[in-house]
Amino acid sequence: MQKETVLITGVCGEIGQALLESLAKQGKKTIITLDLKPLPPKLSRKATHIRGDLTDPATINQLSQNYEFDVIFHLAALLSTTGEYKPFLAHEVNVGGTFNLINRAAEQSQQRGKATKFLFPSSIAAYGLPDLSTKKEYFHIKEREWNEPITMYGCTKLYCEKIGRYFSKHYLQLDTAETVRLDFRALRFPGLISAFTVPSGGTSDYGPEMIHAAAQGEPYACFVRPDVRIPFMVMPDAVKALLMLAAAPQEGLHRNVYNVTSFNLSAGEFKDMVQNAFPGTEITFEPDEKRQRIVDSWPADLDDSAARLEWDWKPDYDANQACKEYLLPNIRKRYN
Ligand code: SER
Repeated sequence: MQKETVLITGVCGEIGQALLESLAKQGKKTIITLDLKPLPPKLSRKATHIRGDLTDPATINQLSQNYEFDVIFHLAALLSTTGEYKPFLAHEVNVGGTFNLINRAAEQSQQRGKATKFLFPSSIAAYGLPDLSTKKEYFHIKEREWNEPITMYGCTKLYCEKIGRYFSKHYLQLDTAETVRLDFRALRFPGLISAFTVPSGGTSDYGPEMIHAAAQGEPYACFVRPDVRIPFMVMPDAVKALLMLAAAPQEGLHRNVYNVTSFNLSAGEFKDMVQNAFPGTEITFEPDEKRQRIVDSWPADLDDSAARLEWDWKPDYDANQACKEYLLPNIRKRYN
């Protein structure tokens, strides 16, 4: 039997690197990766890498003329803080790039008579709570609630979820010929924390930045208030969620978009956790009003019961395990 062909876009980002490690370990797939940058040296033998830009038709042509993809993990995106500095670029990359790829994947599904699975990481940024009392009242948010993002990043994620749903349910709806449509599946992730990479350009970055600074013996000034609370997840659980959703039988899926979460922490609790692990670390709070507003608009936690029910989602790490079993041992090794 021919091996499945998988594409990972944005592979040099945090999720991309972790996902590639994991897929390469399984060894059962032909893996094609795409990014503007070259693959980091430690990953260079794990995939066939293409340097390119999804907003450029030449890149899209190169991909679709040379490969038939069974599964696409489309991770390339600008995050929420960068997106506020460069809203036009964020729209071009997050919407334009996604549209080009989804469109081509939908065409391939139709041409080969087999649905390409299109896995799309969305985000807590797709939500927008109007004020702190509403955030407190609606603590565990369901997928259909408060879809009022206040960032360009959040808007692009929400819109691409809709476009994905369109291509998987309604594309070519007026054609008389039978249509094989793309199989679009999205996950709304909380703030992600990796022991091996540091995020850049996001607004949930204060969590991972705090722990990586502490591990290097550096002080950290947190850019949000100690009371602000959002959900988090460590990278192995994020990769697990992507792989579980990719593997879930389609008959069991009753929606295109699923919340997934592991634990919620206030920035103050995050600080306590980090200082317990690295006693003596100096962590102060110097809120940046504008980035604070973004985090205030995100939910305190997500209701991921649909994912739990429909494809048995369950994280491996709660806050305590995340810290003791994954973050600390790996971060210590990394910086020692
Ligand atoms: N981590 C993302 C960001 O901060 C949110 O999903 O932009």
